Amino acid sequence: MKQNTCAVISGIGSYVPSKRVSNDDLAKLVDTSDEWIYSHTGIKNRHIADEKEATSDLAVKAAERALEKAGCPVSEVDMILVATATPDYLGFPSTACIVQDRIGAENAAAMDIVAACTGFIYGLETARVFIETGTYRNVLVIGAEVLSKITDWKDRNTCVLFGDGAGAALVSAQAAETSMKESLKRGILSSYLASYGKDAEVLLRPAGGTRVPFIPGTTPPEDLCLRMNGRKVYTFAVSVLGKTIETLLAKTGLSLQDIKYIVPHQANVRIIEACAKRLDIPLDKFFLNIKEFANTSSASIPIALTDMEQRGLLHPGDLILTVGFGGGLTYGGNLLYW
Ligand code: ACO
Repeated sequence: MKQNTCAVISGIGSYVPSKRVSNDDLAKLVDTSDEWIYSHTGIKNRHIADEKEATSDLAVKAAERALEKAGCPVSEVDMILVATATPDYLGFPSTACIVQDRIGAENAAAMDIVAACTGFIYGLETARVFIETGTYRNVLVIGAEVLSKITDWKDRNTCVLFGDGAGAALVSAQAAETSMKESLKRGILSSYLASYGKDAEVLLRPAGGTRVPFIPGTTPPEDLCLRMNGRKVYTFAVSVLGKTIETLLAKTGLSLQDIKYIVPHQANVRIIEACAKRLDIPLDKFFLNIKEFANTSSASIPIALTDMEQRGLLHPGDLILTVGFGGGLTYGGNLLYW
């Protein structure tokens, strides 16, 4: 239970495909420009999977790096959660089961989480609950996406925004007395998970499910791709990012000064700037790497955390707040001691 066990991120890793596509490259495909994309989103580049790469291929590489970092034998992984909006297959098998086989986690349960860009945040909280109840000791949480394969490359409103990638965190049980002895707080402290299904249609793939099944020769190919009302998502995002930050602080009795970094879902720099202004938070409290990777949906937060660790920005005991929003619509955040 909570007073005895903390759920600590014991290792983190990421993987992005080597193929790098710049804004200028996209300007050869659709009527856009580097100037428009960068000024409206903060994006300069994105990494794109090759034809043969599926989401599980990226997830496996990120997972293996996280396990190596944690020094945890794969046989000790009890559960694999893959947050993805772009699974290898529709419905089943889950991408998590494919990862389970590929990394050889023979003792692990496996399932996917469908919460779009908020998926990694939902995954961390799910891992925390399984660990603090004593059910599992090691839960591998992966956010992985190959969004390029559900992108309409003729639609300039969406194709400039997204990238492919994966990030993984091993969440492990640690005795609370250990962290107290070290007089260092560790682990996932609290989370806030929320949804607003009323606006589900502002971000969806119209066809291919049971509502509008795929009919060969009839279904327009672009209906199998991601479609978005950018303005509505923007307004929603600015409001729920602020609400999530305020809710997490109120829930834990902490203040903004206690937080070392806010790690937001990397969807658009302008959304983060608007949220920072509304809450009067200095922009440099937010970690941003969208410039290089674009929006990788559920992978963006673990890719950002790995990037921060590699740059030496994260130290044991630092208080980190993750916050995100996405299709569903979903939103939420985690407060964690690194
Ligand atoms: N290049 C050039 N012009 C463009 C492009 C482009 N790539 N895309 C749109 N435009 C044009 C539009 O056609 C429009 O032209 P018009 O005025 O002649 O009609 C003009 O630019 C303005 O369009 P808006 O949609 O009003 O542009 P806006 O400033 O709102 O920026 C954007 C669009 C970047 C999509 C913004 O609305 C946004 O960031 N929304 C949130 C998107 C998001 O976060 N999505 C992901 C969330 S969930 C997930 O991650 C899966």
